Amino acid sequence: MIDYVVKADALAWSKTLEPRSIDLLLTDPPYYGIVEDAWDNQWSNEDAYILWLTTVIESFKPALKSNASILIFQGIGKHGSSPILDIRRTLEKEFYFRNWITWKKRRAYGKEYDYLFCREEILWFSMSQERTNVTFNIPLLDEKRGYAGFSEKYPAKSEYKRVSNVWDDIPELMRPERNCQKPLELMDRFIETHSNPGDLVVDPFAGWGSTGVSALRLGRRFLGCEAIEEDAAKANERCIAAASGGVIVKEKKESKKKSSNIIDLDSDD
Ligand SMILES: C[S@@+](CC[C@H](N)C(=O)[O-])C[C@H]1O[C@@H](n2cnc3c(N)ncnc32)[C@H](O)[C@@H]1O
Repeated sequence: MIDYVVKADALAWSKTLEPRSIDLLLTDPPYYGIVEDAWDNQWSNEDAYILWLTTVIESFKPALKSNASILIFQGIGKHGSSPILDIRRTLEKEFYFRNWITWKKRRAYGKEYDYLFCREEILWFSMSQERTNVTFNIPLLDEKRGYAGFSEKYPAKSEYKRVSNVWDDIPELMRPERNCQKPLELMDRFIETHSNPGDLVVDPFAGWGSTGVSALRLGRRFLGCEAIEEDAAKANERCIAAASGGVIVKEKKESKKKSSNIIDLDSDD
C-alpha cells in the first residue's frame, strides 16, 4: 500500500523526491503566529519564519517539472508584520510570480474599530515564465455569463463566467474537525485548474491531508508529508479512503462532467 502522507520534516522530505517529478506543489503552511497551535509558533521572529518557509519551498525546485506551479496559502499580516510580501519577493527570484488569489470566507471576525477580516491569500508561482508552458485549465463558475461575448469577432469561449482572482463562492468549513482544515471544494478548484489527471500533486504541510484527498479523488497522484505523527496518520487514512473509494463532492457544469459517481468526504461542505 502507498504511503500517501509520511511523518517528516518538509525540508528533509523535499530531498527524497524524484527530480523533475512534481506537476503541482499545493500547500497550506504555518502562517506565523495566527493560530495558537505550537506548529504556528515555532520561530523567534518574523525574519526567521520567512527564511524558513522560503528555504523549504525553494528546496522543492529540483523536484518540480518545468511546467509546474506552486500555490501557497498565506495571510495578509498586520502593521509591521507582512511575511507574505517578503515571501513573494524572495520566491520571485527563484520562480515566476503569476497571481495572488484572495479567498473570501463567510465568517468574519474582528473589533468594532476595524473592518472585519474574512480572507486568506494564495500566491501562485510557476517554474516557467512562458505562459504556454504552465498547466492552466480555465476555471469556470456555475454562473452563466448571459451574453455571447465581446463581439461577433470575439465570441465568448464558454457560456459560463470565468473564475477571477477573488473567490467568494466557496465557503470555509464551519465546524472543522481540525484547525485550519481546508474545504475539499477549494482544493478541487486549484487541482483541476493547475494539474491534469495522472499528474503528481505534492503537499509538504499536509495537516489532515485535504490536498491529497482532493487530488486522489480527481484522478491525480499524491505525495505529502506532515510533521505531527498523529496528523500524518490521519491524513494518510483519509487519502487511502479517497484513493480506494473515488470521492467527488458534486458534479458541476460542462467542463467538470468527468467528475461524477461519488460521495462527499467532508460532512460540513
Ligand atoms: C495550516 S496546517 C495545514 C492544514 C491542511 N491544509 C488541512 O486541510 O488539514 C499546517 C501544517 O503544517 C505542519 N507543519 C509545521 N511545520 C512542519 C514541518 N517542518 N514539516 C512538515 N509539516 C509541518 C503542521 O503540523 C500543520 O499540520
